[in-house]
Amino acid sequence: MSTPENTHRERVRVYATGSCEGFEKLRESLAGHPEVELIGASASAAEGAAALSGGHLDAVLHGTRSASLPADELAAIREHTRAPVLIVASAGSSRMLEQALDADVADVLLLPQLVENVVFAIRKATHSRAHAPAAGGSGRHGRIVTVFSPKGGTGKTVTATNLATALAKFEQRKTLLLDLDLQFGDAAIMLGIEPEKTIYDLVVAPGELDTEKLAGYTTKHLSGLDVLPAPLRPEDAELVTEAKLGRLLEVARESYDCIVVDTSPFFHGPMLATLDRTDELLLLSSLDVPTLKNLRLALQTLELLSFPKQRIRIVLNRSNSKVGMKQNEVESALGMKVRYEVPSDRAVPLAVNRGKPVVLDEEGADVSRAIRSMAKNLFPVEEAAKKQRRLLPAFARS
Ligand SMILES: Nc1ncnc2c1ncn2[C@@H]1O[C@H](COP(=O)(O)OP(=O)(O)OP(=O)(O)O)[C@@H](O)[C@H]1O
Ligand SMILES: [Mg+2]
Repeated sequence: MSTPENTHRERVRVYATGSCEGFEKLRESLAGHPEVELIGASASAAEGAAALSGGHLDAVLHGTRSASLPADELAAIREHTRAPVLIVASAGSSRMLEQALDADVADVLLLPQLVENVVFAIRKATHSRAHAPAAGGSGRHGRIVTVFSPKGGTGKTVTATNLATALAKFEQRKTLLLDLDLQFGDAAIMLGIEPEKTIYDLVVAPGELDTEKLAGYTTKHLSGLDVLPAPLRPEDAELVTEAKLGRLLEVARESYDCIVVDTSPFFHGPMLATLDRTDELLLLSSLDVPTLKNLRLALQTLELLSFPKQRIRIVLNRSNSKVGMKQNEVESALGMKVRYEVPSDRAVPLAVNRGKPVVLDEEGADVSRAIRSMAKNLFPVEEAAKKQRRLLPAFARS
């Protein structure tokens, strides 16, 4: 039942695979449900591969005619996504329920079921996933913040390096900066570090990637930030494949609070793998017509890729430039509000040429304040909780 309260919840993104008696009817009911966004359906996981791996799914609903747990069908889904899987069966047995206890399955639903029960089970599965510690990991589930613009020179690297530095130094977040401008990345040089190893060395190293191995390939910046730089030679970029990058980000999430990704102005394979896992996409704009034109195209591409719009934040760089264009013109061209403004400041190129992030080089500059406030905003709920905790002892004393 839809109430004014639950219609405002973010809808859960579900994909349906497989089939069983009554599954089609259930899919129809879910498609019309206000809390569910049914992304699509396919008879097998292989047929739905693109949506399963790139659909930002919250859950997969898998219909099966089997009376016992369909291990092969589950394995096929797991090739494409780590989203929780709920099995829907028309001929399930108590044996299936028992098997599900030990398997990588969020729930088993035996049809017929009221659609509300199914929606509740999906919500429960996505909720426990968001709160469960990663298996074998530290319990972290780092936020991935990707800095992108379809136009070169808009300030992606300045923003990414300074945001990551501010998170590490001023917000005390365990932060990784990943340079995904694979051919001409210059994050390391802007931070003034000379790395011995790069992302290339990591992806060509033999053996399975885990958090310890990742730690062996990062370079520490004096702010406390860890950096995984771009390959030293442009031709090495192609060895950083989509699959390798996907795994790298999953592992990085287990040991960092935040992973800031600097990018190039292209939607290449590794970038798509990053978008699939991105929690916040900082889309950089500036007050110029060609950038706006390309940003509009980029927004259309993101929509085609089913990238959730609510994860996009428009950042207006050089926001105070007097160039005959105003912020509201940017907003109406993009159909989105500007979330963060970063002013133009001479301190930036000066800091870049010194190999120091401006947030450290010129702490008091407006541009540094703007980027620090962006860093603070990335964890707003927790910030409120922290403040609450600080207030509590005083409260208890009174
Ligand atoms: N807010 C700002 N104020 C002054 N200068 C800036 C600002 N932002 C960026 N710049 C300057 O613009 C130059 C380009 O910025 P940056 O390298 O971050 O762009 P980019 O989007 O990463 O470019 P590319 O697409 O080539 O990677 C920098 O060298 C910097 O000096
Ligand atoms: Mg750059």
